[in-house]
Amino acid sequence: MSIILNKILELLFRLVLILLALILFEVTDVHAQAGYPPPDEVQALRDIAKEVGKRDWNFSLNPCGNNSNWVTPNPTETYNNTVQCNCSYPRGVCHVIKIFLKGQDLDGVLPPSLAKLPYIKTIDLTRNYLNGTIPPEWASTNLEYLSVTVNRLSGVIPAYLGNITSLVYLELVVDRDGAWRGRIQMWSMGTLLLNMLALGLGRHIFGIHMTPVLV
Ligand SMILES: *[C@@H]1O[C@H](CO)[C@@H](O)[C@H](O)[C@H]1NC(C)=O
Ligand SMILES: *[C@@H]1O[C@H](CO)[C@@H](O)[C@H](O)[C@H]1NC(C)=O
Ligand SMILES: *[C@@H]1O[C@H](CO)[C@@H](O)[C@H](O)[C@H]1NC(C)=O
Ligand SMILES: *[C@@H]1O[C@H](CO)[C@@H](O)[C@H](O)[C@H]1NC(C)=O
Ligand SMILES: *[C@@H]1O[C@H](CO)[C@@H](O)[C@H](O)[C@H]1NC(C)=O
Ligand SMILES: *[C@@H]1O[C@H](CO)[C@@H](O)[C@H](O)[C@H]1NC(C)=O
Repeated sequence: MSIILNKILELLFRLVLILLALILFEVTDVHAQAGYPPPDEVQALRDIAKEVGKRDWNFSLNPCGNNSNWVTPNPTETYNNTVQCNCSYPRGVCHVIKIFLKGQDLDGVLPPSLAKLPYIKTIDLTRNYLNGTIPPEWASTNLEYLSVTVNRLSGVIPAYLGNITSLVYLELVVDRDGAWRGRIQMWSMGTLLLNMLALGLGRHIFGIHMTPVLV
């Protein structure tokens, strides 16, 4: 009898140990290592890469480690391939704050997954071949700087851009092949501006650079 009881106790003890190990593993897995972005931000970068068609980010390397793959040296006004992180968060955890993919010949779409980066402040996708329109997901970001000029965008300028009340710089419209140019209607720009004003964007220093186009 006592032998069976011992066996059961031993089994229970083992189960508890396994459970504890699982819980601890889970906890350490969720927390980012110092000097690295948290796993969910790395996943967001993977999703963004797929969406924009960025094929040369090396995920074996730390995206926040200044490897030349993630931060190409000597950027210029027309060519800039940079993911910038801020590693001054508690426990040395890094967060992605800026993405510059200028002149990268990207042929995907504007990435909805950008909204999965909670600390993102700057996105510059100037001079690529991205098509489609500005994703509604971006409305929930705290972007301060947004440029998507010289791409192959289409549709109207969405009024929900005005929801990004943190925005201080917006560059839109000047488009590759005039694709967007032909389709933009004055009312869509008007709606955007009204929305921005309604949401209190007037409070901020607001640099806006749009080419007005009459259809
Ligand atoms: C990515 O980085 C790893 C580690 O430095 C390296 O072994 C691998 O060759 C790189 N992959 C590519 C495609 O450059
Ligand atoms: C990466 O470069 C930036 C700017 O030069 C610097 O502030 C930061 O400390 C560097 N990060 C690492 C991990 O070397
Ligand atoms: C390149 O991008 C980084 C941010 O990711 C920015 O700080 C830097 O000023 C840019 N360089 C040029 C020349 O535009
Ligand atoms: C980095 O994050 C720290 C902590 O939130 C903040 O005080 C600092 O201003 C940030 N630096 C940059 C360059 O965004
Ligand atoms: C964007 O480009 C892809 C591939 O060329 C194409 O399949 C898709 O229909 C385009 N989407 C729009 C909205 O133009
Ligand atoms: C923009 O904000 C308005 C008002 O708060 C909200 O009704 C709308 O759903 C938001 N749009 C998006 C795309 O998030």
